[in-house]
Amino acid sequence: MNFTGSNILSVNQFDRDSIDYIFAVADKMQPYARRKKRTKVLDGAILGNLFFEPSTRTRVSFGTAFNLLGGEVRETTGMESSAIAKGESLYDTARVLSSYSDVIAMRHPKAGSVSEFSQGSRVPVINGGDGANEHPTQALLDLYTIQKELAYHGQGIDGMHICMIGDLKYGRTVHSLSKLLAMYKNVRFTLISPLELSMPAGVLDTLENSGHRYTVTEKVDGLVDADIVYQTRIQQERFASPEDADQYRGKFRLNQEIYTKHYKPNTVIMHPLPRDSRSEANELDNDLNQNPNLAIFRQADNGVLIRMALFALTLGVVDQVDKFECEV
Ligand code: CP
Repeated sequence: MNFTGSNILSVNQFDRDSIDYIFAVADKMQPYARRKKRTKVLDGAILGNLFFEPSTRTRVSFGTAFNLLGGEVRETTGMESSAIAKGESLYDTARVLSSYSDVIAMRHPKAGSVSEFSQGSRVPVINGGDGANEHPTQALLDLYTIQKELAYHGQGIDGMHICMIGDLKYGRTVHSLSKLLAMYKNVRFTLISPLELSMPAGVLDTLENSGHRYTVTEKVDGLVDADIVYQTRIQQERFASPEDADQYRGKFRLNQEIYTKHYKPNTVIMHPLPRDSRSEANELDNDLNQNPNLAIFRQADNGVLIRMALFALTLGVVDQVDKFECEV
């Protein structure tokens, strides 16, 4: 894949070679992300960071990644602070804002909206989450984290068993991650959710067509020999009302007791975050915070590396990052 000037809209754009390349570039970003080295490779460049839905990690880590490469960030957060609230089209917004920016990261509540926006943009557009559809940069950082965590236990992604739990219908991160994992060999999926919130048929078709085994179930029974357990939040914002979402809250808790009873030792615990910390929901209990296999904060940290890599790739400066080093 030729990254320079490309939009990053869906994980369907990638193959295993391009994923390996992104991860190799992310590894190269480690000393800059850890402030051991400093670079000004994107000095003078501007990121348009457009977030029309709430976000903590994705928005701030896109901005941090761009700053760490020496660039500047212009933020728009919320529909109400944009002319979209006055009826401006995504095309016009893109056409205008792409004259003010060198690259744009965008989150929007409607599936397909970031792709629509990219039609009007003159600069690369990176999807920071479009409705219940996709979250490709999250999937890349999840996969990067899985690779690192499994390598720590002497394992690889091929042949692994992942257990995805919660709102698999509206949780866009599990859609994108499943499609990426489908590119690997013999991955086993256990998909646990209420039937109404089960993984969309299109994603299951992708798994089936690429020869993977999956089990769809409503509950955890006995021991799950998973290498990874990936919890998700009930995506309240995608339901007709909060009361509709309430009926599913608290059904898929994971705490230390359940972890010890149902998962083999060293099962890696992941969650894209935010976790819903209200007591009635509590899909990932704070009593797991001291569990060394809880990878959720390493996952969030890896977001900066992956997003630095994607900026360097889409702006065509991968080979110049070290040439623009300056004093720390
Ligand atoms: N994982 C994720 O997308 O988090 P935010 O909603 O905080 O960006």
